This record gives sequence, structure tokens and C-alpha cells, in this order.
Amino acid sequence: MAAHYNTSAGEARKLVAGIKTLSGADAEAFRANLLDAAAPEKLADAVAKRFGAIDVLVNSASLYDREPFAKADAAGWDRHMAVNARAPFFLAQACAPWLKKSGTGSVINIADWSAHRPYADWGSYCASKAALLCANKVLAKALAPEIRVNAILPGPVLSPEKMGEAEKKKIAEATLLKRLGTPEAVARACLFLAEADYTTGAELTVDGGRLIA
Ligand SMILES: NC(=O)c1ccc[n+]([C@@H]2O[C@H](COP(=O)([O-])OP(=O)(O)OC[C@H]3O[C@@H](n4cnc5c(N)ncnc54)[C@H](OP(=O)(O)O)[C@@H]3O)[C@@H](O)[C@H]2O)c1
Repeated sequence: MAAHYNTSAGEARKLVAGIKTLSGADAEAFRANLLDAAAPEKLADAVAKRFGAIDVLVNSASLYDREPFAKADAAGWDRHMAVNARAPFFLAQACAPWLKKSGTGSVINIADWSAHRPYADWGSYCASKAALLCANKVLAKALAPEIRVNAILPGPVLSPEKMGEAEKKKIAEATLLKRLGTPEAVARACLFLAEADYTTGAELTVDGGRLIA
């Protein structure tokens, strides 16, 4: 199993050790800064060289910077688009030959419910996740019939470290299920989509009903 990181080398090492201990699977961490347009191809090549196969690509790396509309600038817009939309698209392109070879290959794009109901102060982030949802459909068409491509739209799961309890409670109350989600719920959705062999181009919300609340 290949784990990608950019700055969190220590966490990536712990993740790899955990995967090996819990599942016995072979695992390694790979560093790539996805702001670099050349990174997706290099990352896919490094993973394919190390493992000789790529079966599932999960595009989860993401930038999430608050940018009040009046202060938003082109550099912030470009950063969000590069990491959240461009990199997943070109990672899928670079992994496609390997995913095709796998026979059951698929791509899972981690988007956000707010791609459909954006916040004004997170304009670049929400627009980049909306672009990712369009890329999800483009990739589903371009890579069919051999490779399935689906998106997960998490709702509120992990809150920023600085967020207080009152704010978290307010966010939980805004969902239909009146609670925050868990990383495990998102991981279960990934496992489902990796095996959902008649599902492609889909958007699966894991948001406690936040999108329709
Ligand atoms: N947390 C939530 O409640 C929530 C809600 C809706 C959607 N989502 C989506 O779910 C996914 C995971 O969420 P999360 O909260 O775990 O995300 P996160 O902690 O904000 O970011 C995930 C990782 O993205 C990587 N990243 C950022 N910039 C990068 C760059 N330039 N190059 C390569 N990697 C980069 C970082 O890796 P390093 O640490 O190694 O630098 C970071 O650990 C994201 O796609 C997010 O948009 C999350």
C-alpha cells in the first residue's frame, strides 16, 4: 500500500508501520508536493516501480485555506486548484495504465459537500472541490469501461484544531444526524466504492445529511 505525504513525514511513517502491523500488507510512504505540476506523474511512476501494480487511487490530499472574498487573490485560487483539482486529475491520468492492467482498477476522489453548497469565505477551496466533481465525471467517461471513477463528499468530520467546542456543536446541529462524522465512516465509503463494480461517475455523500439539511 502506498501512502502519500508532503510535509507530514513522521505521520506517514507511523501510518506505514500501522498498516504493516495490522494487516501484514507491504507498505511505503512517498513524498510529493502536489503544487508541482510534474509531481503526479513522478509519484505514480515511483509507486508503480516499487509495487509493480496500482489497483485503487484515492485522491485525498487537499488545501483548505479560509479566504474572505474581499481578500481572495489569484495565488490562493491557483494553489487550491493545483492541489485539489489538477493533481487528482493528472494522478488519475498517470495511474490509468496501471489501473487498467489491474482489471478492477478504480479512482476515488475525496471532494466535499460544500462543492454543492459553497461558503463565501472559502471560495477557492469550494470552487476547487466543484472542479474536482466535474473532473470526477470527465475521468469516469474517459477511463470507462475498464476503470471506475467515483467521488465521496464528506460533511463535517475532523474539525480544525483551533475550533472550540461550541462551534463544533453548532456544526453538528446543522446536520440531519446531529453529530460530526468520523474518518472511519469515510474509510468505509472508500472500501465500498473500491468494490462497487457497477458504480462509476457517482457522488456519495458521507455528510450526516448536511447537504440537504
Ligand atoms: N476534515 C473534514 O471534516 C472534511 C470535510 C469535507 C471534506 N474533507 C476532505 O477530506 C479529505 C481529507 O481531509 P483532512 O481533513 O484529513 O485534510 P487535511 O488534513 O486538511 O489535508 C490532508 C493532507 O493534504 C496534504 N496536502 C496539502 N497540501 C499539499 C501539497 N501541496 N502537496 C501534497 N499534499 C498536500 C497534507 O499532507 P502533509 O500533511 O503531508 O503536508 C495534508 O495532511 C480532503 O480532501 C478534504 O478536503 C474533509
